[in-house]
Order: sequence, then structure tokens, then C-alpha cells
Amino acid sequence: MFSLNKHYIIIIVCACLSYQVISARGASVSVGVNQEDDDFLNGTFPEGFMWGYATAAYQIEGAWNEDGKGESIWDHFTHRLISPIIDGSTGDIACDSYHKYAEDVELLKALGANFYRFSISWSRILPNGTNDVVNQPGIDYYNRLIDLLLENNITPMVTMYHWDLPQALQANYGGWPNESLVEHYENYARILFENFGDRVKYWITFNEPFNTCELGYGLSIAAPGILGEAIQPYLCAHTILKSHAKAYRLYESEFKPTQNGQVGITIDTEWMEPRNSSNPDHEEAAERARRFKHGWFAFPVFFGDYPPVMREMVDAASAAEGRNQSRLPTFDDNWKTLLNGSLDFLGLNHYTTELVAPGGLCLFPGWSCDQHVTKTKDPNWEGSASAWLKKVPWGLRKLINWIKDTYGNPKVLITENGWSDAGNSGLNDTQRIGYYTDYINNVMKAVILDGCNVQAYTAWSLMDNFEWANGFTDRFGVHWVNFTDPDRPRIPKASTVALKKIFDDNGFPEEK
Ligand code: BGC
Repeated sequence: MFSLNKHYIIIIVCACLSYQVISARGASVSVGVNQEDDDFLNGTFPEGFMWGYATAAYQIEGAWNEDGKGESIWDHFTHRLISPIIDGSTGDIACDSYHKYAEDVELLKALGANFYRFSISWSRILPNGTNDVVNQPGIDYYNRLIDLLLENNITPMVTMYHWDLPQALQANYGGWPNESLVEHYENYARILFENFGDRVKYWITFNEPFNTCELGYGLSIAAPGILGEAIQPYLCAHTILKSHAKAYRLYESEFKPTQNGQVGITIDTEWMEPRNSSNPDHEEAAERARRFKHGWFAFPVFFGDYPPVMREMVDAASAAEGRNQSRLPTFDDNWKTLLNGSLDFLGLNHYTTELVAPGGLCLFPGWSCDQHVTKTKDPNWEGSASAWLKKVPWGLRKLINWIKDTYGNPKVLITENGWSDAGNSGLNDTQRIGYYTDYINNVMKAVILDGCNVQAYTAWSLMDNFEWANGFTDRFGVHWVNFTDPDRPRIPKASTVALKKIFDDNGFPEEK
């Protein structure tokens, strides 16, 4: 979940004044956590549990215009005359993984990773976004990476879209709010399945569509930087969900019979904890927030339609605004059928927890206001370099249990979880070690004690990289990258050792 989001959503949408009042109130309420939730559990994950690391193309590859690659919306956004990035940086070079991928594979090997989750840059394969031009050097690059991973017994897990839409599709169609992108995404998906499907068995159609839509087309703090909170995020989500369904069905009918892989989608969410757990209104608000955030994307792919509470509340808000049509679009029966059950696994990205209460002051209509909730943090939670990221390990266990109960215990792959430190932090990242240890321990509790079907854990990230609007200021890597050195050396932090031990041990067999 990328840095500025929670912060901005709270500040922009709920208004500074209400945020401060609520924060102060939040501080005085004790959060309902069972002490036993914090007891460390010794034990191991079931055999076959998978351990890996994740990155994304724009954040690590660099080579933004090399070998025929087309411009993406993130290239375009970061090249604006007035930079929207905190430190004015770009991903033009980033970690230079386009040239240093072999070194990345070495790192993964040394870390004992079973798999590597990386993303494919759409405009490296199709420079214009459309299949009129296929860029062979781009295909060759990913072939080299995939082959090298397999030679080293590391399973490739591919994210097909991690936020870097080809700029041509933005310029010509207005990007995701336009349904024409469904067809272009399906064509792109076909090219990926055809070229890489013989070796890639895990496909993630989209990474965190929430951020693409709400931050990119609503709040304008991510590419393409559109301010359109009321409607655009809902249209964007609608197109993405249809694109996902089409790609899933394409794979199912034409590729799965011979390639035998799996297709899922990665949806991010915080755990939404009621601010006052003994107040039923707070629990109701927290559940509403869960459905507006996770359910927005997960209900359609599990059940074929948006959560009823979203339908009711957005329809009602739209009517109150005098609109003759709801801001939340509808799926016809055909789309509902295509969407229903369109996943072989659920990808889950999770970093932190929010305290949720009903109400909140709203300045303008949109996703944030539509749910009538206020989100705050407990000031006692340990903080990272990112304002939005606080350590609340039990939140992940509760979230996984909620997923089990809400969607019928689906197969879950945790596709991201991680901690940031600041630009001047050193290699002795003890906070990160503490974060990983406690979060993974809570995943183990969910699996062993609660019977949740989690089958993989992915640490974000293999190395420090371009942290979107925060540029290179927040570092999420287990390797330190020197971004002023043209060689972009990767230096292991202490967390590499701690995580390797957890991976090798398949959990925590020994007394801590
Ligand atoms: C994204 C990553 C990002 C990470 C940390 C997730 O939102 O998928 O690209 O770097 O969280 O903010």
C-alpha cells in the first residue's frame, strides 16, 4: 500500500479538523486486543508452504525508454515539469534491474526464496498498449529472467499489471475509466500467456486495483494524476474488474488445459478494527469499511457483484446529490457470470491496521465519503518511516480470519507485507526484523490455530526501490541500494539473515 494514501485520504477527505479531534479521541480509547494474540507461537507451517520476495517493474527496472519500450503513465507522471514526487526523483534508472536481473536472482537464491513475484511492464511488451506492435526485446528480457529463475529453482510469480499503464492508452482513451481498455488488456494477457505460460504457473492479473483507481483517478497522487474522486475511481474499478474476468476466462478456456497454471488477483487492505470494540456501531462501521475497501474488488470476483452495502450507500448518496444514475456502475448478468468465481487464489497485500468509527466530516462526494466512516491510528503503535505504516501484527491474523469467514476459506497467497525505514537508516534494520517476525508469526497462528488456507508469504521487498510518490525516501528493501552510485549496488541488511532463517525453518520451530 503505497505511502501517501492513507495520510492523504484522511487529510483531504475527512478534513484536518475532524482528523485531529478524532485522533485525540482515538488515543483515549483502548483497542480491544486479547493479550493472548500477542503471545509468540512456536511451530512450523504445513509442508509445501511457499516463501518469496516481491518487486514491481516500474519500481526496479529502470531502462524506461530502452530497447523499444514505450512510455508508461508512471514515466509520464514522474517527468512532469513540476514533479509530483516528494524528492523529485523518477524510476528512469531505479535499481537498474533491467541490466542487473542476474544479480537479483543471485540475491533471491542466497535468501532461500522459493518464488519471486515480479511484474511485467505492459509498455515494454506493447509500446503503444495495443497489439499492433509487439516489442521482441521486451519479451526477450522477461524470458531471460524467467529462465534464470527456473534454473535456480525459483518459481516465477508474475503480476501482469502493477500500475504502469502504457501512456498511449491513457492519452487515447483516458485510461482505466474507459471500458475500451478491457479489450486491450485481454489482448495483452493473451500475449503474456502465449509467450511465458509454458513456464509461468502463477499469474496475478492486477496488483492493488484500489490504489490504481482511488489514488490515480480520484485523489491524483499516483499516475496518471487525475482528480476525479466522485466517479472516476468507480469507473476505473469497473473496467479493471471486467478486464480481470476476461483474462481469467481466457486463461481458463485456452491456456489452462495445457499450461496448468493458476490465475488470481491481488487486493490490498488494512485490517479495519472497530475503534471501540464494545460499541456495535463501531463494529458495523468497521465491517462497512472492510467491504468498501477489500469487498469492492473481492465481492465481484468471488460472488459476481459489488457488496450490497456499497450498492445501497453509493446509490443513496448519488440520489441525494441529484444524479439520475448511481456513481457505482452495474454489471449485467453476463458480466456477473464471468466475474463469479474468477480466481484460483486470492492475492493479499497487507501492511497495517486502521481504527474505524462511524461518521466523519466529508468535503466532497466519492469513495471515502460514501462509506461514512472515520479512520485513525492508535498513537501507541510502533511507526515506520511511512506515516501510514504502523506495526499491528494481530491485525493480519484478524484479517486472514475475516477473509476465511467472508469468502469461504479461499486459497490465499500473501503477495506483499513489509516495513519501511528512512533514507539515512543503516543496515541494522532491527525494526524490520521485529515486524516480519511478529507478522509471520500471526500468519502461522491463522494457519495452524484457526485453519485459514494461506499457502504463501511474500516479503516486500527484495531491495530498496522507487516508492512511488515518496521516491527514494522510504526504503522497504531487505537489501540497501545506493541510488547515487551508477552501479546501484545491493547490500544485505540484517533482515536478510533473519528472514532466511524463518524461510529455511518454515516458521519458528525453536523457542524464541
Ligand atoms: C505496492 C508496492 C509498494 C508497497 C509499499 C504496495 O502498495 O504494491 O508497489 O511499494 O505497497 O508502499
